[in-house]
Amino acid sequence: MLKIDLKGKKAFIAGIGDDQGFGWSIAKSLAEAGAEILVGTWAPVMKIFQTSLESGKYDQSRLLSDGNMMQFAKIYPLDASFDKMEEVPEETRENKRYKSCDAYTIQDVALQIGQDFGKIDYFVHSLANAPEVQKPLLETSRQGYLASLSASTYSFISLLAHLGPIMNAGGSTISLTYIASEKAIPGYGGGMSSAKAALESDTRTLAWEAGRKWNIRVNAISAGPLRSRAARAIGFIDKMIDYAQANAPLQKDLTPIEVGNVAAFLLSPLASAITGETIHVDNGMHAMGMAIDSAAFNQKTESAV
Ligand SMILES: NC(=O)c1ccc[n+]([C@@H]2O[C@H](COP(=O)([O-])OP(=O)(O)OC[C@H]3O[C@@H](n4cnc5c(N)ncnc54)[C@H](O)[C@@H]3O)[C@@H](O)[C@H]2O)c1
Repeated sequence: MLKIDLKGKKAFIAGIGDDQGFGWSIAKSLAEAGAEILVGTWAPVMKIFQTSLESGKYDQSRLLSDGNMMQFAKIYPLDASFDKMEEVPEETRENKRYKSCDAYTIQDVALQIGQDFGKIDYFVHSLANAPEVQKPLLETSRQGYLASLSASTYSFISLLAHLGPIMNAGGSTISLTYIASEKAIPGYGGGMSSAKAALESDTRTLAWEAGRKWNIRVNAISAGPLRSRAARAIGFIDKMIDYAQANAPLQKDLTPIEVGNVAAFLLSPLASAITGETIHVDNGMHAMGMAIDSAAFNQKTESAV
């Protein structure tokens, strides 16, 4: 029987802050396949995430098919906008939500993972942030645009550069992207569309570099809309979900576990010849060139009949 068996493998997933997002569902699929899960949680939400986890709030979502609970081997506070502690502004260091975490930059987290676990096999980047996401690109400030690229795209390059040396040869990485990189999606602003376009381009370049340097694969999943915390902050996620339901080839909800399962496949040796690829997991929405629920389209169809 062909199955995904990741027993004995260690996966670090950056970008889990609750049980609603893609990071969580990817963790679940990897745990179902037997992998050990290490987590990077954005420093300001670390406390609430840990408290919720310990209080049992996520117990239902932690249940695996064999009846066991998904376990996290360790949760590291992370702010992927910073590479080294020296770069962290005083204001951030002094912020009470950061002060309870000792070291949370990319360099610190990679170092700690190496010390705690030696080598890892997989790295998942499931995070994005753009302070001006609700602003159209034309109204986005330089600072807002660069902050989006820094948190959402450069963070992947830097994490890979720091984790590559502690990844086993044959290891693999995944990031999460969105169709706004390829087509205009009004409302997905603040430079987030640019950040995703850069992420997909970097996926190809990094596949080449990391493939030759460490024998590590680099892929991306372009996911359909999900009502995660980050997506709710953008403001029009429910409309995007309805739009996809109305217009995608597969007329059903996109469940986060469908993305988790593709991530598990792409990370696993079953995908050993796939690298530099962006795979759409969106009920086929990316394949459409026409909104079939458009009022204009319906009018034309009616008058043509
Ligand atoms: N939800 C969607 O519709 C959708 C669609 C396609 C792609 N994606 C992508 O999926 C990925 C995961 O997002 P999600 O929608 O599951 O939401 P999510 O809220 O579950 O995940 C985003 C995570 O990023 C973390 N984060 C933000 N800034 C950070 C920083 N500087 N350092 C470290 N962590 C930080 C947040 O705390 C959060 O846990 C993102 O890359 C997102 O762009 C989402």
